[in-house]
Amino acid sequence: MNLELEDELGDIVQKARGRKPWSPADLARAVGMSAAEIGRIESCAWIPDAGALLKIAAALDLHGPSLLAIAQKAWGPGEVTPEPGPFEIVCLDVFMGLYPVKCYLLVCRQTGESSIIDTGGNPEAIIRKVRELNVKPTRILLTHSHPDHAGGLGKLILQFGCPTFMDKKEPRPSGGREFHFLQDEEWIEVGRLKIQALFTPGHTPGGVSFKIGKSVFSGDAIFAGSMGRANASWSGLFQSITRRLLTLPEDTRLYPGHGPATTVGEEKRHNPFFCGKIPVREPASAGLL
Ligand SMILES: [Fe+2]
Repeated sequence: MNLELEDELGDIVQKARGRKPWSPADLARAVGMSAAEIGRIESCAWIPDAGALLKIAAALDLHGPSLLAIAQKAWGPGEVTPEPGPFEIVCLDVFMGLYPVKCYLLVCRQTGESSIIDTGGNPEAIIRKVRELNVKPTRILLTHSHPDHAGGLGKLILQFGCPTFMDKKEPRPSGGREFHFLQDEEWIEVGRLKIQALFTPGHTPGGVSFKIGKSVFSGDAIFAGSMGRANASWSGLFQSITRRLLTLPEDTRLYPGHGPATTVGEEKRHNPFFCGKIPVREPASAGLL
């Protein structure tokens, strides 16, 4: 179980409050606490007792037991085993200052061609890994253009000269040259691989997830146990996740832009934003007579 989640209790409460939208004082009034206490929770300086946490969960439409499990560091996603198939996924921690961002190389085993999914702000680690693996990047795919995900675009283009695929609703990252603006559900070919673009806006106006087989690179849409910050639209992000990602088969792997990999099944059962809101597939009965 990977307990090093991207978001702590305080991040989750703050993001959930954005749905209403409520100020810290509004939430404090709703649960009989002070605004200062809500502030301490949201700055991750204090974890209240279980009773108070369940009240907060109810006020914010979060799943109480799931929130409690994360607050008490009792839940994290199980280890995600890579999907067997014609591709390899290489996960790279690319740091923006001290802040880690997950970038990915998706490699066609047959041809060695690869796509770089998000460039990070400081992409030397990607360049080193490409050389080490002796693969050939032919596409750069951007989940969105925040600097921690796309700031390294210019350096990678200078190095590899490949086109950049993104949603045109996203601001253009600096250093970009040859943009290909995606349509929703468009297929992208990399070697013998076919990758599908799924528009998942809400964190930003043009957020995109990239799906191959039962593996999805979800950028800052969903994290293990949480969701991205809804900078563009809270309801838009919620719908992107509930309609486009968590409707995929439960063994679909989710590779987010921050924090550990997870699966659709794990998030349907344990993510406080979504648990109880999407039907889960119960294990088949034992076929009793
Ligand atoms: Fe972001």
